[in-house]
Amino acid sequence: MRQGKMLAPFLLAVSLICVSCYRPVVLVHGMFGSAPSEFGKTFENWIKSEHNGTIIYAIRMFEKLCSLRPMWYQVGKINEQVREIMRGHPEGVHFVCYSQGGLLCRGIVSSMNHNVHNFISLSSPQAGQYGIPRKWDRYMPANCIKTNIYKFFYTHFVQNHLSVANYWNDPHHQTLYRNYSVFLSHLDGSTPSPNMSEYKRNFLKLHRLVLIGGPDDDVVTPWQSSHFSFYDENENVVEMKKQKFFQDDSFGLQTLYNKKRVHIHTFPGVVHKKWYANRTVFNSAILPYLT
Ligand SMILES: *[C@@H]1O[C@H](CO)[C@@H](O)[C@H](O)[C@H]1NC(C)=O
Ligand SMILES: *[C@@H]1O[C@H](CO)[C@@H](O)[C@H](O)[C@H]1NC(C)=O
Ligand SMILES: *[C@@H]1O[C@H](CO)[C@@H](O)[C@H](O)[C@H]1NC(C)=O
Ligand SMILES: *[C@@H]1O[C@H](CO)[C@@H](O)[C@H](O)[C@H]1NC(C)=O
Repeated sequence: MRQGKMLAPFLLAVSLICVSCYRPVVLVHGMFGSAPSEFGKTFENWIKSEHNGTIIYAIRMFEKLCSLRPMWYQVGKINEQVREIMRGHPEGVHFVCYSQGGLLCRGIVSSMNHNVHNFISLSSPQAGQYGIPRKWDRYMPANCIKTNIYKFFYTHFVQNHLSVANYWNDPHHQTLYRNYSVFLSHLDGSTPSPNMSEYKRNFLKLHRLVLIGGPDDDVVTPWQSSHFSFYDENENVVEMKKQKFFQDDSFGLQTLYNKKRVHIHTFPGVVHKKWYANRTVFNSAILPYLT
């Protein structure tokens, strides 16, 4: 009681001294996106209106068509910029990363000695993608593309040139996935990588991992991939805790989970391109982690 009384004026003083007690936020956009696009602008406005004084860095790299460049190439370039940002903020930063951006951020928090405090993955196919948006049916039967595109994606040439091939995860061609995928299969430990222990060490530096997704997402397939769940060979969705990478704790997900540092949020009624325009999602699953 007495302690509480003494603490109150102290906390008041601290809150007055602090210009901003919020860690800076780094925003990473999705495929075909750009920083000044709706994603960056909306979140910048919302964060600033709720947490006045927050410094926001929207990564303005690999915008529009350039977002199709291979994942490791993008990660390497973004790392350089992020390293500078982190140098200026030893207290740590938060990542808010949307769609493909969430996989770029995963690559960053795995491959560099970072100080990311909370990593918020907003509708990102963290366990891979196996689906073509239905709206593409206009050009070509989506199902036909989905079942055949592995022949093209699981080649060295395409892996070296196209981001989406780097996290394409065909449940019917897992040997090819392990043999050819140069990005996701290395991060999740499906392909033995000499860098695995380093990836794990880096990943475990995260304070919180926040996974946001929902059943009405019309792009991420299966949508549960946003929560690290994925198809088995019969296309039944197998939950995160039954995934090999979780059970082997290959990159630290199980450790984080057991320490209650993985937060999973599900929202119905949100289509893929509306994730960053939904204030309910923002207020309940993003804002509380931006402290
Ligand atoms: C944020 O704080 C600054 C300085 O204290 C003030 O000028 C500005 O109006 C505030 N903005 C909002 C959105 O509250
Ligand atoms: C995968 O790679 C191994 C080792 O290089 C090789 O023996 C095997 O035939 C490959 N499998 C496929 C399906 O490409
Ligand atoms: C391991 O990491 C180093 C340094 O980040 C990188 O140059 C190398 O390509 C990585 N090796 C593999 C097999 O991914
Ligand atoms: C926003 O998210 C809520 C919660 O899931 C959902 O009910 C609502 O339909 C969404 N609104 C839009 C415009 O996506």
